[in-house]
Amino acid sequence: MLAGIQERIDQLTQELNDYNYQYYVLANSPISDYDFDLKLKELESLELEYPQFRDPNSPTQKVGGDITQKFRTVAHRWPMLSLGNTYNEQELREFDERVRKVVGDQVQYVCELKFDGLSISLTYEDGTLVQAVTRGDGVQGDEVTNNVKTVRRIPHHLKKGNYPATFEIRGEIFMHRAAFERLNKQRQDAGVQSYANPRNFASGTIKLQDPKEVAKRPLDCFLYFLYADNRNRLFASHWESIQAVKSWGFQICEHTSLCHSMDNVFSFISHWDTARHQLSYDIDGIVIKVNDYAQQEELGFTAKSPRWAISYKYKAERVETELERITYQVGRTGAVTPVANLKPVLLAGTTVKRASLHNANEIARLDLHEGDTVYVEKGGEIIPKVIGVNGEKRAIGTAPIVYPSVCPECGTELLRQEGEAVHYCPNEDGCKPQIVGKLQHFIGRKMMDIQGMGDETIETFYKLGLLHKIADIYSLKEHQEELKGLARFGAKSIDNMLAGIEQSKSKPFEKVLFALGIRHVGETIAKKLAQHFKTIDQIIAASAEEMAAVQDIGGRIADSVYNYLHDPQHLLEIGRLKEAGLRFEIEEQEVVLAGDSLMGKTFLISGVFADFSRDELAQLIESHGGKMVSSISAKLNYLVAGDKMGPSKLAKAEKLQIPIISDQDILNMINP
Ligand code: IVH
Repeated sequence: MLAGIQERIDQLTQELNDYNYQYYVLANSPISDYDFDLKLKELESLELEYPQFRDPNSPTQKVGGDITQKFRTVAHRWPMLSLGNTYNEQELREFDERVRKVVGDQVQYVCELKFDGLSISLTYEDGTLVQAVTRGDGVQGDEVTNNVKTVRRIPHHLKKGNYPATFEIRGEIFMHRAAFERLNKQRQDAGVQSYANPRNFASGTIKLQDPKEVAKRPLDCFLYFLYADNRNRLFASHWESIQAVKSWGFQICEHTSLCHSMDNVFSFISHWDTARHQLSYDIDGIVIKVNDYAQQEELGFTAKSPRWAISYKYKAERVETELERITYQVGRTGAVTPVANLKPVLLAGTTVKRASLHNANEIARLDLHEGDTVYVEKGGEIIPKVIGVNGEKRAIGTAPIVYPSVCPECGTELLRQEGEAVHYCPNEDGCKPQIVGKLQHFIGRKMMDIQGMGDETIETFYKLGLLHKIADIYSLKEHQEELKGLARFGAKSIDNMLAGIEQSKSKPFEKVLFALGIRHVGETIAKKLAQHFKTIDQIIAASAEEMAAVQDIGGRIADSVYNYLHDPQHLLEIGRLKEAGLRFEIEEQEVVLAGDSLMGKTFLISGVFADFSRDELAQLIESHGGKMVSSISAKLNYLVAGDKMGPSKLAKAEKLQIPIISDQDILNMINP
């Protein structure tokens, strides 16, 4: 029996550590908060009873942290604490009693929404934003100033005002639901991993390496706490401070309320329990803060959280309903996604008929049986999730759900790559949703943007046998008469469509590459590949390792591109597209030289720079006649080094005695 317990402790430890890693580092949440807490509680109680089996690295011993390798780590001047949670009126009354015991009955609370994003600490000096740091583990976090500067609502410079010379202001960075849905849809269309909810999207965005990419994803920020030396001399209370902070130019949420009694607090909570669904962003509760600074000080802190504030968490809305059946959707890349079809049920203001089941692992984890009664939850996610089964309602003898071994659309045996949770149908040439999906992707607005042709036209032409491969689009003009004879299309619309197809031939290489629909290759990756390798032939000639050496291209993407481009069918198709006149090379831009001070010299850029992105710096060098190269050799004239340059590059450059210069040196060379 003891062996069984040890095994369970090991299993929970491993699972929870992995969830923590996924959540804090990869910004993914494959499990609901509720299930995570259940597992953590189970582990805690097992460890209490059998301390001999506790792993020193147990997730019960630490709070997760979001510190990643890529950014400078900065210690917080004032630790970034978390908040105690309450889930019901009773627990909140107990908090109020604890407060009153210490500070007496003259207490006011500020009620704020608890924004579901990532917390950020901003430092201003003389009214200028000088540093932005994530929460990290509360003691130290990642310095992400350049990324935060792209958030429009965060001022870079404050107008003149009565703010302290140095202060820190804390708040929450988040993404509005509408922006999340729009951008996530684009990711899905592009076949890149989508995010589960706006919070993950926001935290994934703040951790990107390239501020220009961050700027493309609209983030917003509410500020909710001020720190400064001698702050209490400036303001007597939190409420006063947030009014002042507003006048300095910071965005404070308008739904913040000064409450004179617990009754006020409870009505604020119950109002927002329903009204929250009308907000344009997600909240997961309410934060209740003692208003008076002197009282806050009297109350102090525990090791993890202030005694003067607490959060009231709304329960993720959950309902029970019957599983009618599971269907399997096949996407354009062949990925098979299981979907639970449910007996319709009302949840968080909408009728839910379908819920996501992610993949085969999830079905196994839930131990789902046919006809089960399931719990469905709508947390931060847009698509509701099946989070568990009501075992008591399971009829005797029902069969467990078995993941299909063959494609539900075409009957081909499904494949699952090592380390991947997703099953794929490999029959890309004979499986309808893949064929039609690839054609529809190809003509999409962000790809070839073919005017006069829509998703329905593609479906019809496919059914008529006019389209099968994407290259067939460019042969349509040979069927003009046949097309014009079709009842549904007027001659004019066929002419428009053919003109649209002709026009698409001038789309740049990066769009063509994106349009091919290679698994894991979205807009950004296509651009990076095109810019780096310049021609399709060079990408075909590159090894997967060479591709993975390009910034932001990981091993999984590199393998996918490599495999795609080494499939004879794909090469044949690319050949046909080339023949049709599509661009498979980047157009060498005619560089209008701004100067010739770097003429004849070669440069290699490494590391990150405060004032330039690497692309900007390369452009600057090239516009003054310099030539960029991609590897260090004895022929290299200069290595331009920023922060966090790889140690092996540095060692190699030193060994070859290549001058190592800064971005400032480049500016000096250009403007001596
Ligand atoms: S006050 C010591 N106010 O909730 C006071 N936090 O569970 C700490 N949060 O890390 C924060 N909305 O990321 C505060 N109106 C609000 C908040 C808020 C969201 C987050 C914040 C914090 C976490 C604590």
